[in-house]
Amino acid sequence: MRLARHGGHETPRRTRAGSARRIVGAALATFLGAAVLVPAAPAAADSPLRDHAAQQGFEIGAALGVDHLQNDSQFADLAATEFNAATAENSMKWESTEPSRGQFDFSGADAFMDFAQQNNQKVRGHTLVWHSQLPSWVENGNFSPSELRSVMENHIDEVAGRYSGEVAYWDVANEIFLSDGSWRNSVFYETLGSDFVADALRMAADADPNAELWLNDYSIDGINAKSDAYYNLIQDLQAQGVPIDGIGLQAHLINGQVPGDLQQNIQRFADLGIKVAITELDVRIDMPASQSELEQQARDYRAVMDACMAVNGCVGVTVWGIVDQYSWVPDTFEGQGAPLLYNDNYQPKPAYDAVHEALGGQSDDDPPGDDDPPPAGPCDVSYSVANEWNSGFTGEVTFTNNGSSALNGWELQFDLSGGQQISNGWNADWSQSGSTVTASNTDWNGSVPAGGSVSIGFNASHSGSNPEPGSFALNGESCSVS
Ligand code: G3I
Repeated sequence: MRLARHGGHETPRRTRAGSARRIVGAALATFLGAAVLVPAAPAAADSPLRDHAAQQGFEIGAALGVDHLQNDSQFADLAATEFNAATAENSMKWESTEPSRGQFDFSGADAFMDFAQQNNQKVRGHTLVWHSQLPSWVENGNFSPSELRSVMENHIDEVAGRYSGEVAYWDVANEIFLSDGSWRNSVFYETLGSDFVADALRMAADADPNAELWLNDYSIDGINAKSDAYYNLIQDLQAQGVPIDGIGLQAHLINGQVPGDLQQNIQRFADLGIKVAITELDVRIDMPASQSELEQQARDYRAVMDACMAVNGCVGVTVWGIVDQYSWVPDTFEGQGAPLLYNDNYQPKPAYDAVHEALGGQSDDDPPGDDDPPPAGPCDVSYSVANEWNSGFTGEVTFTNNGSSALNGWELQFDLSGGQQISNGWNADWSQSGSTVTASNTDWNGSVPAGGSVSIGFNASHSGSNPEPGSFALNGESCSVS
């Protein structure tokens, strides 16, 4: 039998006072899910993503790994500065919170909640019932239907109950369908049948009456058999009076493959009267990522942002991580990576600019003297290897501003895809992240008149092969190569 809510928790519930004690010095409007998006003063053009998002009443979130929050201050800084919403990447999952039956461990989840609250971020709880990252005592427990229902109820009650009033949305059930729209054979489905979803939603409503209750899955971004299954299930749940508030489209995407009907799909769910969000966005690239692939990725991020922002019921976009080096992608998809907004050196990628601009940031209109160079018009680049020896070479690059106005600051990017590593350079400030090389103007050569050219050069190492870069971008615009 189920215990009364306040007596039923084996682990002490976080009290409002206990939570408030942790929120030291935060500009806290409230951490109740409904009120985090405080109307903001107009954001400056180059303000962080969250400032622009707040102005639009939009959520821009990130999945946060607690170990990174605790051990990587650059990661934590970006998480706090850029995002007004947050999802725990792993620390609220079943294997983290209830690794053994009835033994709850909220150390990671509490640390995540503390961070989100200190930074006034709207929290998506992820996730209560999922076939993956499920401890074996559940998966292989051979429970009878009534026992498994009670195991599920206790878990939901403890986890959602602990953070009652502090989580805006719960991903109550995650990834319940296969790509053909049939039910996934999880222990929950096999033991309880499809009713486990309605049961879990009702249990979550009991545990946290304030949270919105969502379903969440991947490969349901476009209209297909799997998203049709959700569409039908949500209608069934609504007809039965089961609480269902939203659907998360994870959007783990492949570069250049944003579904053309993404917006239409978002709209059809919104038309059911529920909310929609992009919950786990990343766009993976075959490595090494070239400059043109990074530009394609930026267009993909922009397309996803635009599709969500165009539909009233689409509340926000969450990216599944912040810096490329911590992404789950390379571990899962061999040879693929670079799926996020920041590169391994914590520098924003073209995808960041695309998200920034989609939110209304106007990096193109930065006042002179700002960090961001203005966009270039048409440009032409010539590249040559002036000298080459066993283990190194000297590269020379000349670009011409073929636009009709002068450049006031420039940044040239290209890829050295053969593992070449720049050691020094001249006539520009040089940096390299993986294969991507960035040369930006020095103090004295930022101004390039229409028709003017700049020649820059570098020394680099190579280990046998020395392929030439195939494409160049000047202030984010592709150049022709002569
Ligand atoms: O915590 C252990 C650590 O102790 C151990 O040393 C290490 C060795 O591999 O593993 C660590 O656990 C890893 C865990 O992430 C925490 O880092 C697991 O191996 C690893 O499999 C796990 O991957 C997570 C994955 O879900 C599990 O399915 C990813 O970080 C996480 O990004 C990913 O997120 C999922 C969403 O929850 C649902 N949608 C798909 C998305 C991507 O798979």
